[in-house]
Amino acid sequence: MKSLTFNDGNTVPSLGLGTWKSPKGEVRKAVREALRVGYRHIDAAWIYQNETEVGAGIQDAIESGFLAREDLFVTSKLWNTFHMPEDVEKGCQETLLALGLDYLDLYLIHWPIAFKPGKEHNAPKDFWPVSELPLSKTFNAMLKLREQGLVKSVGVSNCGLSTLKTLIAESEGVPAMNQVELHPYNPQPQLLDYCHQQGIVVTAYSPLGSSDRPESMKQKDEPPLLENETVKAIAQQEGITPGQLLIAWALDRNTVVIPKSTNPSRIAENFAAAAHTLSAEARSALDDIGIEYRYVSPDSWLIPGVTYEGEDFWG
Ligand code: A2P
Repeated sequence: MKSLTFNDGNTVPSLGLGTWKSPKGEVRKAVREALRVGYRHIDAAWIYQNETEVGAGIQDAIESGFLAREDLFVTSKLWNTFHMPEDVEKGCQETLLALGLDYLDLYLIHWPIAFKPGKEHNAPKDFWPVSELPLSKTFNAMLKLREQGLVKSVGVSNCGLSTLKTLIAESEGVPAMNQVELHPYNPQPQLLDYCHQQGIVVTAYSPLGSSDRPESMKQKDEPPLLENETVKAIAQQEGITPGQLLIAWALDRNTVVIPKSTNPSRIAENFAAAAHTLSAEARSALDDIGIEYRYVSPDSWLIPGVTYEGEDFWG
């Protein structure tokens, strides 16, 4: 399995198992199965509400004896309600407790959006204004977790160019990772170039189009990526499945990719994609797919004058 190197010298396996939307009743088995077939990277988050089960799957694999904690790369993410510097360690400890681990390989700020405590986040009063709590304050607190040995590397997620540039200018470090939505409908080449210049590894989430998102997150008539005619035709030419093609495309761009599956045969199918070398023809057909679409949008959290805003604040 290929791995990529962060600007802090640590490395990350390029293919990981996504766990967003993986139901509690299925994810333990999925994690165990993924580790059995060879995955060594699991992507988790506090807000996915399944970290206890993800952790149980990891422990099952460790107890089976075919891998040790050090062989495994585990990522998790700080939720938006923990952005105050004094809350950052609490968010991390809750995740460590749920996963049953004593350190994370990578800890990301999930969104460049800071929620005040509470369940509703749609009025200005529900958010910390950027002027009071810029992302750099949260990031500096994340860096302390690294010093404490609770996490090996720290990074961000969902950051666009302007947010990243401001963060790097204002904080005491450079993120090791930026995890964003990336697939042929949303390839974000400028963001990828900038991150690579800074030594920031980029992870592609929703690489298969996340068709299992809650209905409330979907728009009418959205274009399903796995059913795209170009994707299907090129996959056939390459002798692989559409899912494998999208994973191979992400790996070919030197991004990490974290397809989610709880189905044993698709877990194995997705892992096998890492062995495929994409042809130049397949690469350019996907690069020129001609459809722009993003499946995940934080628009409802954008409050002018309070939160970050602007076209490229999020990636
Ligand atoms: P399942 O979990 O039943 O395998 P994303 O990673 O973009 O969020 O996409 C996840 C969705 O894609 C899930 O519905 C998952 O279903 C499905 N999926 C995962 N792997 C494949 C594959 N190789 N082919 C088709 N669908 C897949």
